Amino acid sequence: MKKTVLAYSGGLDTSVALHWLKKKGFSVIAFLADVGQGKDLRKISEKAKLIGADNVYVKDLKKEFIEEYCWRALKAGAIYEGKYFLSTALSRPLIAKYLVEIAKKEKAEFVSHGCTGKGNDQVRFEVSVSLLAPHLKIIAPLRIWELKSRDEEIEYAQKNNIPVEITKKSPYSIDRNLWGISIECGRLEDPWNEPPEDAYQMTKSISDTPKNPLYLEVYFEKGIPEKINGKKFISIDLVEKLNKLGGEYGIGRTDLIENRLVGIKSREIYEAPSPTILYSAHQELESLNLDREVLHFKPTISSKYAELVYYGLWFTPLRSALDSFIDKIQENLTGAVRLKLFRGACIPVGRKSPISLYKKELATYGKESKFDQKLAEGFIKIWAMPYRYQKSNSK
Ligand code: ARG
Repeated sequence: MKKTVLAYSGGLDTSVALHWLKKKGFSVIAFLADVGQGKDLRKISEKAKLIGADNVYVKDLKKEFIEEYCWRALKAGAIYEGKYFLSTALSRPLIAKYLVEIAKKEKAEFVSHGCTGKGNDQVRFEVSVSLLAPHLKIIAPLRIWELKSRDEEIEYAQKNNIPVEITKKSPYSIDRNLWGISIECGRLEDPWNEPPEDAYQMTKSISDTPKNPLYLEVYFEKGIPEKINGKKFISIDLVEKLNKLGGEYGIGRTDLIENRLVGIKSREIYEAPSPTILYSAHQELESLNLDREVLHFKPTISSKYAELVYYGLWFTPLRSALDSFIDKIQENLTGAVRLKLFRGACIPVGRKSPISLYKKELATYGKESKFDQKLAEGFIKIWAMPYRYQKSNSK
């Protein structure tokens, strides 16, 4: 019998996919990855069995997700098209890694997912799987089955006794994990429509945020956030805490018309309180601790890194080479940043570090200044020299 490992979320697509695969004669192993989607995984695992899964694996990947994927993106400063902190995109290679591991253990020759043929996630899953285990075959039901719309899927589910939560049916397609929430469909499909308040899952509307600002101190060790207000947190707790605080102050909403890999422009809104706060603090500390050349060079790396993540190219030589570069420049990124959260904004207001490159004795206009201003005269002459020879030509 053919055997496949299905990345199972418990939603409509993967539930119908599970049933469909069984009908096509596959033995189906359902894999539930916990990346902090905040759902009851025991219930979902029972649902998989009810639909016909031959075996179910549940794995808590939250720590690995944050420490091996999100922290790297944070250190790299990776944001896709200036607005997307890549929460969905970062989770895919990790889930793919475990799909492969389970397929090996179960001696399955296939892996499956419930992604549509129009999206990025199919690419991320399949590229990752093919790089980690080239022998594995992919079966992607949504690309090949006869069902043409969500309504037809619901009909299929009802006919085959697959439980669907149509009671509080949300018009949105939502992907949630610890690093953020991606929301599309419904009214959002018209780019002219302002995102309705009910689309947001974890952040408060600006008008409902507290009257007074909240001050927060984030401490980093070699580019990794370790403390909030002087208190040490393990990675998962730190991210959760900032999601909560940021959400309360309406921080981390973005609205993006984005360029998908498959050539489509799509509209997605995101909620990412924790990344918004952490990136802002991290960047602030970089301003203090990195020298000018490294600092000015880094954005090239950040945008390339974001593309690699978005494009599903996590398990590639360039990504790991960029990680080496980034880790090298993060060696000096130890220190703290003070932020003010207020009415949807996250504003850095203070920064300090034992290895700061800011030297008050050089910057000050007071009499304690150690900067020898006389030297500036010669510096300026030499700085301008190459251009002075060109002056006659450019006239
Ligand atoms: N556009 C995002 C990406 O490609 C998220 C995709 C999933 N979004 C969703 N609402 N299910 O990474």
